[in-house]
Amino acid sequence: MYIVFLGAAGAGKGTQAAKMSKALKLTHLATGNLFRQIQVQNTEIAQLLRSYMEKGELVPDEVTIRMVSEQLSTPDSASGMIFDGFPRNLNQAEALDKALAERGKTLDKVVYIKVSEGELLSRIGGRWVCRKCQTPYHTVTAPPEVWGKCDQCGGGLHQRADDTEEAMKKRLDIYFTETASLIDYYTRSGKLVEVDGEGDIKSVERRIAEALNKTAVRPV
Ligand code: AP5
Ligand code: MG
Ligand code: ZN
Repeated sequence: MYIVFLGAAGAGKGTQAAKMSKALKLTHLATGNLFRQIQVQNTEIAQLLRSYMEKGELVPDEVTIRMVSEQLSTPDSASGMIFDGFPRNLNQAEALDKALAERGKTLDKVVYIKVSEGELLSRIGGRWVCRKCQTPYHTVTAPPEVWGKCDQCGGGLHQRADDTEEAMKKRLDIYFTETASLIDYYTRSGKLVEVDGEGDIKSVERRIAEALNKTAVRPV
């Protein structure tokens, strides 16, 4: 199964994709996480990625598409994937269709997580992420068991460099001007399922499981 999780910054793509990938035993490919991981080393490509991400701008398509294609060629991806944060425009969506077709696969579903703008801002405002595994937490809605430490791996928590007011505004602008057009694209192909992303994490998780016709999947 190949599934895209679509939604604005702070909609809960990462939170929910992590849960669904475990439940459905699919590889979770989050392009933002992949790009942040690359920045741990101070290489030329790391500097290029940072220059776009810190401003909240999209990384150029040719770089993004090449990296996703590389991931699609790994053995782990053969049985299915959840794409989180990719595609983000029409060009990337067409490239994904093509890359899957070349491998004899197709995209099964696109889960669009819909959340109001006010809620997005309060989710981003309280977010802390693990430095090591990038699991997201929230000071109010999803605190870790021990403050400052990741429940999954014990790593330290920090705030993302692009969770500033300015970069956040840019990310939301780009979402509404470029990425939201994918809602139409995937509606036309009959793949879009819209899920109400408001409410607590467990409720959203249940709705997504239902939307994927996997009501038997137990929330993790
Ligand atoms: P990326 O890392 O993908 O960021 P984003 O799209 O802005 O989305 P976020 O990760 O901020 O939000 P999320 O939906 O994952 O929410 P989360 O689960 O964390 O991309 C970053 C940058 O990388 C881009 O700006 C761009 O530069 C580059 N990039 C990435 N992909 C690219 C691409 N394809 N092309 C070009 N450039 C690309 O949840 C948010 C918070 O809310 C957390 O604190 C969480 O604990 C909390 N929360 C989650 N669900 C709930 C709930 N139901 N109730 C209450 N709180 C909740
Ligand atoms: Mg994310
Ligand atoms: Zn961790």
